[in-house]
Amino acid sequence: MESTRNRLIELLEKNHQRYISGQSLSEILNISRSAIWKHMKELEKDGYEIEGVSKKGYRIVKSPDKVSENTIQWGLKTSWLGKTIIHKPTTPTTQEVAHQAAREGAPHGTVVIADEQTAGKGRMARPWQSTKNKGIWMSILLNPDILPVMAPQLTLLSATVLAESLSQLTSAEPKIKWPNDIFIQHRKTAGILTEMQAEQDQIQYVVIGIGLNVNQTEDDFQEALQSTATSLKIETGKNWSIKYIIQHILKNFECAYDSFLEEGFPAVKEKWESYGYRIGEQIRIRTRHKEWEATFLGIAEDGALLSRTENDGVRKIYSAEIEW
Ligand code: BTN
Repeated sequence: MESTRNRLIELLEKNHQRYISGQSLSEILNISRSAIWKHMKELEKDGYEIEGVSKKGYRIVKSPDKVSENTIQWGLKTSWLGKTIIHKPTTPTTQEVAHQAAREGAPHGTVVIADEQTAGKGRMARPWQSTKNKGIWMSILLNPDILPVMAPQLTLLSATVLAESLSQLTSAEPKIKWPNDIFIQHRKTAGILTEMQAEQDQIQYVVIGIGLNVNQTEDDFQEALQSTATSLKIETGKNWSIKYIIQHILKNFECAYDSFLEEGFPAVKEKWESYGYRIGEQIRIRTRHKEWEATFLGIAEDGALLSRTENDGVRKIYSAEIEW
């Protein structure tokens, strides 16, 4: 259920160009005027600037450019995604918060966001550096009615959402490096970690973890990452509103997810390939037993990398080291 605070924010947002009286708010929300006043004080603590004029009412003058449950709700143009937001100033990993929320019955579309992660997780058990207030550290909880084998398609979909959002918002040219890293100018800007709780043929829930480097300078990255990682700030030379990018990603995510459920994977594959890094180029594939050169063709429905060699023809690769 939508909280009174969210409804209050919605009302103030819709009426932000005029005053709305305490009496009207109290009637619409069915709470006392002193309860309205308390909510206003809470919003002020969150950084909202609220003008209260006697006989006229309240008006939001400015909403803060920081991340909180309220500020993300304010201006979020989704219908189901992010209706429940859990914001943590600091946490070991938003993935675990999302798993815990799922076990406690949190709804489909719950979003967990942290300002900082002290034990951020990457793929293949690698650590993920998540410096305070410098990036987007977010986990999305989904209850998709699809077979567990299709879950990788959600990861590929998430990568297209990130690439598309960055190309809409910034002048950068994001690319998706197989399977789902977002690269700008040959350096990694974002990564996705998908975790799933499933029975044999039924997904209980999926947690999609998104890490996006936004406002780091080179010095903010650990030395080992400095030559391979980048951020939107490094690539564009300016600071970005983390709140605004989150809202934009969530809006695009909801839209892409709804279309995927209705229309299936082909449109996701096409979009993925339109952002694909080095499609059509020669790559070097290394498995435990052999190493060879092939042309990178794109992705298959199950997320495998499609490659072609003269001898073997088209082949699906699921797990290998790729030299790009
Ligand atoms: C990767 O490229 O290896 C995946 C990185 C995923 C990082 C995100 S940040 C939010 C969520 N919480 C985590 O601990 N990991 C994911």
